[in-house]
Amino acid sequence: MAKDSHYIKTTGDGSHTVFSRGFDQHFHNPNGAIAESRHVFFEESGLLTAIQSKSHLNIAETGFGTGLNLLLLCEYMNKLNCRVTIRYFAAEGYPLQPEVVEQLNYHHYLDLSEQLPHPSGWFKNLKSGWNLKTITPRIKLLLFVGEFDEWQMEPESIDYFFHDPFSIDVNPEGWTKSLFSRLRSFARHDALLATYAAATRARAAMAAAGWQLAGAPGAMGKREMTVASPDEKQLKGFKMLNTQRLKERYYQEFADKE
Ligand SMILES: C[S@@+](CC[C@H](N)C(=O)[O-])C[C@H]1O[C@@H](n2cnc3c(N)ncnc32)[C@H](O)[C@@H]1O
Repeated sequence: MAKDSHYIKTTGDGSHTVFSRGFDQHFHNPNGAIAESRHVFFEESGLLTAIQSKSHLNIAETGFGTGLNLLLLCEYMNKLNCRVTIRYFAAEGYPLQPEVVEQLNYHHYLDLSEQLPHPSGWFKNLKSGWNLKTITPRIKLLLFVGEFDEWQMEPESIDYFFHDPFSIDVNPEGWTKSLFSRLRSFARHDALLATYAAATRARAAMAAAGWQLAGAPGAMGKREMTVASPDEKQLKGFKMLNTQRLKERYYQEFADKE
């Protein structure tokens, strides 16, 4: 089935998600798309504090999908009256059609500025490679249409990563040591990566790629999620994981499966 074949479904909190026929998986947790995205990428990551205290941030999302995380960022910045400017980098291999995005019900659940045009416009006239869109006077979207492993960014430039491919069983190329090494090279020394996943194989690949790791409470019925940073100090307050042991497990159990 084609990877760009999708249909809309309603999740447990009433907000929509999209089902990918090609990957045979929902874009979000079926128990609540908005609730999960808020928890994993904003509440647990410390981003809500950063957008209120920093003057500029670079965010990178692996798997732009519906654009829900960017929409949530617009909402938080509007509600918290943030002065920060953001460059929001994202990679997406199979962009949704604007007609699909038009049907998503996120605006019923989010407190968005009336000036924000409908996000379906973000998906119009996309070309392969980089697409630059001004989302608000303070947020620029730099959307890379292409495969994760073709995505290039400036070294040591990214502050926050939203790592959001499908799960490792259906989307293994989103969880390889090689991809995490590339993300690590884009990361500032104090960057933070958040992901909903807690699979040992995914964590082992991150550890082998030079990330320090910690576990955090998962969203919507999931026991744990993962946060990672090049710098252990950024993970203070989280449940630290044994990165050395995970690295060993990567080479013993998982390296030859990639
Ligand atoms: C779980 S969904 C992302 C959900 C998204 N963050 C949102 O809030 O709607 C994963 C996304 O990654 C994209 N994707 C999967 N594998 C990819 C690859 N190898 N290269 C580029 N994009 C990929 C899929 O097309 C899909 O849009």
